[in-house]
Amino acid sequence: MIRFEHAGKTYPDGTVAVGEFTHTIPSHACVVLVGTSGSGKTTLLRMVNRMVDPTRGRVLIDEDDVADLDPVDLRRRIGYVIQSGGLLPHRSVLDNVATVPLLEGSPRRSAHERARELLDLVGLDPALGERYPWQLSGGQQQRVGVARALAADPNILLMDEPFGAVDPIVRRELQDELARLQRDLGKTILFVTHDIDEAFRLGDEVVVLRPGGDVAQAGTPAEILAHPADAFVEAFIGAGSSSRTLHVEDHAGTRVVVDRSGRVSGVLAP
Ligand SMILES: Nc1ncnc2c1ncn2[C@@H]1O[C@H](COP(=O)(O)OP(=O)(O)O)[C@@H](O)[C@H]1O
Ligand SMILES: [Mg+2]
Repeated sequence: MIRFEHAGKTYPDGTVAVGEFTHTIPSHACVVLVGTSGSGKTTLLRMVNRMVDPTRGRVLIDEDDVADLDPVDLRRRIGYVIQSGGLLPHRSVLDNVATVPLLEGSPRRSAHERARELLDLVGLDPALGERYPWQLSGGQQQRVGVARALAADPNILLMDEPFGAVDPIVRRELQDELARLQRDLGKTILFVTHDIDEAFRLGDEVVVLRPGGDVAQAGTPAEILAHPADAFVEAFIGAGSSSRTLHVEDHAGTRVVVDRSGRVSGVLAP
């Protein structure tokens, strides 16, 4: 469990990135923070692994205030995935995945063995481990980033717009893959995105942020879609998709779901 208690951050130049944020991320759940650029998402995420220290309030992991935990130790036991992948260009994929185990003194052979298993787990051919990051596609690099984040078998994964730089089809694949991993592994995931569709697809709970890390609404995707708290949330939901209102048409006995612009989005199960 991760708990933000009145956590806020004012940067030294006076920028109030997060005014005050209170929220609990239950163990084994995937909670998505969604908001426009500059709303404080990255700042909030980084408070968990102490890449940012709050200037007010606190962040707890289970019952421990992270301020009392060693930052290096904390970063090694929390998985962290960022948009650019953050892979070391001059290291093989296997070495990248095994970064933390190697730092902690695991023998190279067993660290690489484990890295191959992790590549397989995230849907990559383990043979790709011999390559360098630049020899992989963007989507493959992001999978390597996820494998690396899982290498220390962390309970917590922090994901900062991890799929932001890949094309929509690959993005969708990566989202499906993450949802599957989450079902299998049951990590506690704090995921950040500016894409409301991605938030709805992945989040057990979605937290819609206004600028300053101010919570506009928190709830399940269904709750937020069915009952947007206010005009801000309504606009935010609407902006993600041209047409969220669906209706059903009957086509020779099959019920087809059609969106507002007339595009077919699926078939109702009988
Ligand atoms: N190191 C920093 N120093 C000063 N201001 C910062 C710093 N990092 C972020 N900010 C500012 O804090 C606000 C929130 O940033 P950030 O948490 O990165 O938002 P998001 O991830 O939602 O785009 C922005 O106005 C940003 O410019
Ligand atoms: Mg950010």
